[in-house]
Amino acid sequence: MDRHDMLLSPAGVDALRTALTRARFTANGIADRLGPQATGAVARNDYRAALRATEDRDPLATLIRVFICDQTEPEPVVAAALAPLTVEEALAGGLVERHGEGLRAGVDLEPYGDDWFVLADVPASARPGRPLHAEHVLGIGGATQTLIGATVRRPVETALDLGTGSGVQALHLSTHARRVTATDVSERALRFAATTAALNGQDWELLRGDLVAPVADRRFDLVVSNPPFVVGPGTTTHVYRDSGRVGDAIGAELAAAAPHLLTEGGTMQYLANWVHVTGEDWAERVTGWFAGTGLDAWVIQREVADPMAYVNLWLTDVGETADPQRMAAWLDWFDAHKVEAVGFGIVSLRRAGHDEPIVRVEDLRQRVEPPLGDRVGEWFDRQDWLRARDTDGLLAARYRAADGLQLRQEATMGADGWAVDRQVLAMPRGLRWSEEIDPLVLALVGGADGRLPLRDQLALLAAAHDVAPDELAEAAGPIVAHLVERGLVEPVAD
Ligand SMILES: C[S@@+](CC[C@H](N)C(=O)[O-])C[C@H]1O[C@@H](n2cnc3c(N)ncnc32)[C@H](O)[C@@H]1O
Repeated sequence: MDRHDMLLSPAGVDALRTALTRARFTANGIADRLGPQATGAVARNDYRAALRATEDRDPLATLIRVFICDQTEPEPVVAAALAPLTVEEALAGGLVERHGEGLRAGVDLEPYGDDWFVLADVPASARPGRPLHAEHVLGIGGATQTLIGATVRRPVETALDLGTGSGVQALHLSTHARRVTATDVSERALRFAATTAALNGQDWELLRGDLVAPVADRRFDLVVSNPPFVVGPGTTTHVYRDSGRVGDAIGAELAAAAPHLLTEGGTMQYLANWVHVTGEDWAERVTGWFAGTGLDAWVIQREVADPMAYVNLWLTDVGETADPQRMAAWLDWFDAHKVEAVGFGIVSLRRAGHDEPIVRVEDLRQRVEPPLGDRVGEWFDRQDWLRARDTDGLLAARYRAADGLQLRQEATMGADGWAVDRQVLAMPRGLRWSEEIDPLVLALVGGADGRLPLRDQLALLAAAHDVAPDELAEAAGPIVAHLVERGLVEPVAD
């Protein structure tokens, strides 16, 4: 894509950057200007304190009023704040629009991170009654942030952002990838992404096309995608939300494409929705997406919504709550396909080059210690460690209970005192897993201090509990592998 496919000319982008940085219209500059109370209120969409703090309308105050508080301001004041960018170019590029007696924001210009700017469309909630553009460019919302947080941020040569929209994922990729490619099916979205890139002094390869089509025959070390994952009958009204694929097919399509997109050792991560169909195991359905891909897969389900709540959420997102027909048609489709719920989660894939890939699809609804991306990277590392060992290798290794591991007990008072009902191992850090365990496993974990190989530890346990050492060793292998996978016990390096 050539550099002129932006909202502004290259000189206009430079002028805008000059205006923004000169005014200190950055996350820190704004927080300093507003103070903690008004900044907190703005985060809750309460602009009253921020408006009081910006009454003198110097450039920073005006930029805050226009782009943060969504006010209409007199043209000369806006012109002074945007200079050296001219109002004519800002209007032509859609950066501002005429409204009443003055000018207001035409785009969502968001200061982001330490000194980044992200350009997107103004959200539906800020322009009630105005239909969203069919190629609406999404700002930094919840799903966007979920993927940002879940991405494994290790240094790579090449990275791809599929469905880049505002370009915010590509912006993050640029911190740890030498070369960034970003694609979108929407020309309009690519104009926003190109402008975001230029505004932040970035140089990405931008390609237009349907999903992986623009990068056929190319491979990347890291691929991320926050695709239009919304599940429904396959109709498209808004391209940021609707893939045009029926049901949850886009999640399966991306899985099938992944092996051809990744370099050896490469990682792909994307957000997905999947249907829970009556009489079907959702995890089995999603597991089926990876059959034959040869990839390691870890899928975590973070949320589940019932159809009504789901349809409501996505209609509200585009400002269409008042359309009962759309809602009824969508819910009818769910009924006809026996969809009783929709799961939302994160798919992480890795091309590890093994004949027997690990595919794990599980619920992980608890809050995890951020950043999730570090946890994902560690999960694949642990799989590598496990895969490199057969049962003998597992028994020969030494283990230590994870730092801070807790034991929680539930017990009932009886005639003879407390009778333990349940014992649960809980990790207060990382992925915060908790697991009910039996007394033998508890003894095993309790004795895991990193000194004895597992085989010797099991021999001691077998003697104490009067069980055959071989039987115990056979049973313990998969249990220890599971505890290692979840990070509840850690192998000790030799
Ligand atoms: C949910 S938005 C994500 C935007 C941004 N990457 C983020 O994380 O906020 C989905 C993006 O995918 C693009 N898109 C939709 N259908 C696509 C397709 N078939 N191929 C490529 N991109 C597509 C949309 O235009 C939109 O920019």
